[in-house]
Amino acid sequence: MWGGRFAAGPASVMREINASIPFDKRLWKQDIAGSKAHVAMLAKQGIVADGDAVAISTGLDIIAAEYEANGVPVNLDLEDIHMVTESRLAELIGPAAGRLHTARSRNDQVATDFRLWVRDAMDEVDAGLSALQTALVGRAQDNADAVMPGFTHLQSAQPVTLGHHLMAYYEMVRRDRSRFADARARLNESPLGAAALAGTGFPIDRHATAAALGFAKPTDNSLDSVSDRDFALDYLMAATQCSLHLSRLAEEFIIWASQPFGFVSLPDAYSTGSSIMPQKRNPDAAELVRGHAGRIAGCMNALVITMKGLPLAYSKDMQDDKPPVFEAHDLLGLSIAAMTGMIETVTFRTDRMRALAESGHATATDLADWLVREANVPFREAHHITGRAVKAADYKGVSLPALSLAELQAIDPRIDERLFAVLSIDASVASRVSHGGTAPAQVRERIAQARAALEAK
Ligand code: ARG
Repeated sequence: MWGGRFAAGPASVMREINASIPFDKRLWKQDIAGSKAHVAMLAKQGIVADGDAVAISTGLDIIAAEYEANGVPVNLDLEDIHMVTESRLAELIGPAAGRLHTARSRNDQVATDFRLWVRDAMDEVDAGLSALQTALVGRAQDNADAVMPGFTHLQSAQPVTLGHHLMAYYEMVRRDRSRFADARARLNESPLGAAALAGTGFPIDRHATAAALGFAKPTDNSLDSVSDRDFALDYLMAATQCSLHLSRLAEEFIIWASQPFGFVSLPDAYSTGSSIMPQKRNPDAAELVRGHAGRIAGCMNALVITMKGLPLAYSKDMQDDKPPVFEAHDLLGLSIAAMTGMIETVTFRTDRMRALAESGHATATDLADWLVREANVPFREAHHITGRAVKAADYKGVSLPALSLAELQAIDPRIDERLFAVLSIDASVASRVSHGGTAPAQVRERIAQARAALEAK
């Protein structure tokens, strides 16, 4: 492509270090779309003759069909997807192929292709996350009344419902989708026509190519256009945060599936056995989702460190932008699909959850609140009285509601039999009616809103 200035070819290690075709072949659809938009604009502006433009466009369609059928040929000598395609075009249509690159550089070309690719990736992730939300909301609906222990420090804290717990993940995913949507809106400006770095003297129409490729507008500074990889970083940061949520959900499934918890039985389809221990059913899919979150964060770090300190405009370091984005996207797609499948098919052992919720003195706060409400005891004192009641129950080896009235009154005479109505876990849960609280009525309302939001999109 640039033989005119060179006397010798590249060293073989140069070919190898320089080539991006082994990975950037994944941009082929976007590259062809960008080239077709560019050549149509060149013809409309009278920069390339109509006949040549038709030959180029038809040739690009043929190449697309070839790639679709046989994949993209990986020729390290041709360096990247842009040159592989242009060279095939020259084979197909002859010298007219050389007119395609008028008023364009690979710098704005790759920036355009990559934006288009990341935009598609964001749309794919959004569809996956919407399906995950649908699964979460469905299981939450079925379990809006199912009481389970709520934890802080992984110690039994207060009873909550399983529906409420699942809806917590709905909220996380809602924020994830909104982060991807913000990033998509910021991404959606076309760098095509910035050329190498300074713009071009040809009378191009950047608004036309932007519109043809579905961008809201052309970018406003040619130097920034070819140097900017914020859109890829935005994608990776949103992906990292999303993967953290998936990883926390996976971690809960791993804990819940362990025998001492026994809160869930993971479906066969998402578990593996052991080659030596016949009783085993391991939560491998959940563990890999947890593991993948680390790799996705690593991809985000890789591009942050690549971009840090690069001067304007294009530097070849930026060719290293694609592998971490491709890797993160593949890992995220698998993680979303695996968690969605697990949510849809996991068996919740709600009897076991209820039994554990009954056992951890989880309604101790309700006792303290009752003393405040009914006996006008200051909360700190009520806390102390309740602590003594818990100690008495532990000493007796029973849970708090199993203490007798006499035993409770020995601790504080202001306690009367009305207390027992608030010590049950169902009463405790039903009483948490503050906005966003775990009362089944609250949770059902939130589920209805979530369903409406999912249907509206
Ligand atoms: N393969 C390059 C990349 O992915 C394309 C842009 C090359 N531009 C250049 N001036 N060498 O970044």
